[in-house]
Amino acid sequence: MVIIRGATTIASDCKEEVQKSVGELLEQIVIRNGLKPNEMVSIVFSNTSDIHSYYPAKAAREAGFESCSLFSVQEPDIDGGLPLCIRVMLFVEKNLVPKHVYLRGAKVLRKDLSGKINIAIDGPAGSGKSTVAKRLAQDYKILYLDTGAMYRACALAILRAGADVADEEKVCEVMGDVSLSVEYLDGVQHTFLDGEDVSDAIREPPVSMAASTVSKHRSVRIKMVEKQREIASKMSCVLDGRDIGTFVLPEADVKFYLTATPEVRAKRRYDELVANGHTVDFEELKENIVNRDKQDMNRDFAPLKRADDAILVDTSDLTIDEVVATLKQHIQERI
Ligand code: DC
Repeated sequence: MVIIRGATTIASDCKEEVQKSVGELLEQIVIRNGLKPNEMVSIVFSNTSDIHSYYPAKAAREAGFESCSLFSVQEPDIDGGLPLCIRVMLFVEKNLVPKHVYLRGAKVLRKDLSGKINIAIDGPAGSGKSTVAKRLAQDYKILYLDTGAMYRACALAILRAGADVADEEKVCEVMGDVSLSVEYLDGVQHTFLDGEDVSDAIREPPVSMAASTVSKHRSVRIKMVEKQREIASKMSCVLDGRDIGTFVLPEADVKFYLTATPEVRAKRRYDELVANGHTVDFEELKENIVNRDKQDMNRDFAPLKRADDAILVDTSDLTIDEVVATLKQHIQERI
């Protein structure tokens, strides 16, 4: 007896989704393992506790799996588990090396089998990209790459050198002498300049505008993008930035463009800065954000813009949980 495993996710808890996903999963298992009906002895399903609408076993019967025994169980509620997920074990009477099948959002459970997943999130400052990207990375257990941190680190290096961030030649000269690296400590991205952890220093308000100016330079972008592509080519990750879907990873599996009104975005940044002990003027902060957006959107090389195939999500009136749920639904429908 050989056991073939698999899993898939559904976009929402409804009968049609369960039927569609179960049918698709079993069909792929059959195709990839070259199974005949009489070789399948038994199929056991388990589904996460957030699925109530339909039994996977019933969906399997309806999909034509009539000659084998079928069984469904519901899993306990596991904190941080992949939501809306259906797992399967198929017992077969055949001498074969099983090809396990992971589809849709469940690909993240077996990245070794499913290949890499790259999720691109672009949008203006304060649109919620980094908070949401971190949550997705945590839930899917993949890497979060904050590309803005790289431009911020460049800007910090130039500011510390007392150079003009608008002077491309000078910027290149300074950056030629500095080593910039991104490392992960306990799963959290840290940015280093010449071995110094500058993860906090790059969040200081003056660095934001300087990062936007530094990121206009083509030569800077080429270097940063090279590092970003290298990381994304090696592992599954969620990347957030301004040009991920349009330039860094035009072939990303799923792309999002988050937006929110300038008021809302400025309020989010304001709350964040105040919580971190900064004294800020709200109107000034809002003006800075609007100016930064303008600069990021109007630069010549790889400007901030929505990729044609990016899903637009306006986060103005949504909570973080709602944004995360919206993105997950799209991700699970697409991968
Ligand atoms: O996301 P952030 O606020 O940390 O980004 C700081 C600046 O870096 C932003 O104003 C523009 C630039 N940036 C970019 O040009 N491309 C990216 N992929 C990420 C950030």
